[in-house]
Amino acid sequence: MTTININNLVRKNILELQPYISFRDHNEFDNPVLLDANESPFGKYNRYPDSTQKKLKEKLSQIKNISPNQIAVGNGSDELIDLITKIFCEPNNDSILMMNPSFAMYGFYASINQNKIMKLDLNENSEIIKDDFLKIIKDFRLKIFFLCSPNNPTGNSIEDIEFFVRNFDGIVVIDEAYIEFSDKKSSIVLIEKYPNVIVLQTFSKAWGMAGARIGIAYSSEEIIQFINTVKAPYNVNSLSLELILKSLENTDEFKQNVKNILKEREWLQSEFQNITCITKIFPTDANFFLIEFDDVEKVYEKLLNEEILTSKRSPAIPNCIRINVGNREENIKLLNLLKSI
Ligand SMILES: Cc1ncc(COP(=O)(O)O)c(C=O)c1O
Repeated sequence: MTTININNLVRKNILELQPYISFRDHNEFDNPVLLDANESPFGKYNRYPDSTQKKLKEKLSQIKNISPNQIAVGNGSDELIDLITKIFCEPNNDSILMMNPSFAMYGFYASINQNKIMKLDLNENSEIIKDDFLKIIKDFRLKIFFLCSPNNPTGNSIEDIEFFVRNFDGIVVIDEAYIEFSDKKSSIVLIEKYPNVIVLQTFSKAWGMAGARIGIAYSSEEIIQFINTVKAPYNVNSLSLELILKSLENTDEFKQNVKNILKEREWLQSEFQNITCITKIFPTDANFFLIEFDDVEKVYEKLLNEEILTSKRSPAIPNCIRINVGNREENIKLLNLLKSI
């Protein structure tokens, strides 16, 4: 057990903040007459959503075997990244640490909050260099470390995550947006041992519900309480909550979709081997590939001309494009075009 005191890491004004409490969501009623929130008495979605997201938290608590008080629900994990930054980082004063390359939104929300962004360059295997990590955390006072595993855009899982947690005395956010595509274990197990760890997961990727905008944070009760305090009371809408609960009741389709994506990933990987304009395929644990090309500008332009949209990472990652695994028809279109170059 580490001795980190979360209250010492939280911004002072947030420590003093009182959460907005929706009276009806925090009390039990049998058949209430609802005249408290200026809603319309008519319509199917006339009521505000449950601000505590109780049913979803209870369901996730059973699945993950942790307390509902250790779960926060966000409008996508994007919202959670924003809230976590605001809770712990004093504008103009605090800094965050992120891997380079990694998911750009950590830096985006830090910039909005006027925090400095320190970047830890990954090595040629897209791994963190432990000595570089130890040096940067010694030289700078860093509030949050965003560790993305599997990492976007490189696709690999980060090795020995507990080493980084053990050595960081701020908040460690482990972003597992792509964990369902990986055979590595989730870091949720670390939250019992380290109160400063937050694990983020999302329904946007493997669950196929990016449009519903639901992300989940798993952490110590203290940190979850702060997230609940700063979030907009009705941050997640009723339609999305219903949809996610329904998909958690029957997970057959989810499991089948993940299986299909992994099968397509394997097939694409073998097909890529025979494509001459490809010079490197980065190993992936996610639903996308980072690929290096001999002439990235030409390839990207040809893809665009055929309206095949991909994510060009060059020049930040020289000569590379991130391409996600599609369905068979989409993958064939992609392969045919790449073979023609
Ligand atoms: C690593 C990572 N984290 C978080 C997100 C955002 O997910 P959400 O749709 O839950 O906001 C993404 C989306 O691309 C991502 O790649």
